[in-house]
Amino acid sequence: MQISGSIFPFFLLAFILVSGASSAADKNIDFLECLTLQFQKSNSESDSIYTPQNASYSSVLQSSIRNLRPASNSPRRPFVIITPEHESQIQAAIYCSKKHGIQLKVRSGGHDYEGLSYISETPFVIVDMRNLRSISIDTEKNTAWIQTGATLGELYYTIAEKSKTLAFTAGVCPTVGVGGHFSGGGYGMMSRKHGIAADHIIDAKLIDANGQIRDRESMGEDLFWAIRGGGGTSFGIVGCI
Ligand SMILES: Cc1cc2nc3c(=O)[nH]c(=O)nc-3n(C[C@H](O)[C@H](O)[C@H](O)COP(=O)(O)OP(=O)(O)OC[C@H]3O[C@@H](n4cnc5c(N)ncnc54)[C@H](O)[C@@H]3O)c2cc1C
Ligand SMILES: *[C@@H]1O[C@H](CO)[C@@H](O)[C@H](O)[C@H]1NC(C)=O
Repeated sequence: MQISGSIFPFFLLAFILVSGASSAADKNIDFLECLTLQFQKSNSESDSIYTPQNASYSSVLQSSIRNLRPASNSPRRPFVIITPEHESQIQAAIYCSKKHGIQLKVRSGGHDYEGLSYISETPFVIVDMRNLRSISIDTEKNTAWIQTGATLGELYYTIAEKSKTLAFTAGVCPTVGVGGHFSGGGYGMMSRKHGIAADHIIDAKLIDANGQIRDRESMGEDLFWAIRGGGGTSFGIVGCI
């Protein structure tokens, strides 16, 4: 089986952990106001913002959780879940979390064994990549751009639709998310021969702590190296691989 040297564009958001002087509740309200304002500025709909007051909040929160133990032992739930449909909404979330000292968690497939994408000791929000899951395959160049909300199953299926001879080396479980998987490594059935998913990433899009969208060239080789195995949480949100 021939393998495609795939391009994996990431959107990485850097996570900001800040403790401030104002009360947690005030900060949460400030964050939400900031987010609403930023969304208005970019003409984004507020239906990408879930708070516990929205009827579908719990189902969105639980939808991709695979290990219920950390979730049920967690002292708190996210006070906002953002499900961006385009980059500006990720930038808004970063901007407001930085401004108001709120921790940001990124979730792609939700398969983190310890629940790192959906639990926290401090007040937090989740940027859930579920709506950013497009996959575009170039069978001439044997490359692909994948948004990080896609699952491995969706990736394999899309490659198979386009080609009988191309494949991509990554994990076995189809519901694992591309975002957490590729930024952490990603081994599977083809790894003995072809290595891990991270070995085949040739470009990425990363949204950094300042909301700048960077690609391989503008992020530099050091950071590009780090996001291919160093784990997404260390460096930002992977939106697209
Ligand atoms: C049932 C199951 C089967 C598995 N099978 C395999 C396997 O065959 N091979 C293998 O190598 N691994 C396997 N894993 C492990 C899996 O690859 C990792 O847990 C991986 O981190 C999950 O990625 P995710 O996006 O689904 O998880 P998430 O919980 O969404 O994310 C995992 C971590 O990455 C961060 N992250 C997620 N998205 C982004 C993003 N867009 N940008 C920056 N950071 C991000 C999160 O904040 C979190 O810290 C399996 C796990 C499970 C639960
Ligand atoms: C959640 O409720 C707010 C306030 O009613 C609303 O503006 C927003 O669109 C709702 N979000 C979703 C995802 O429906």
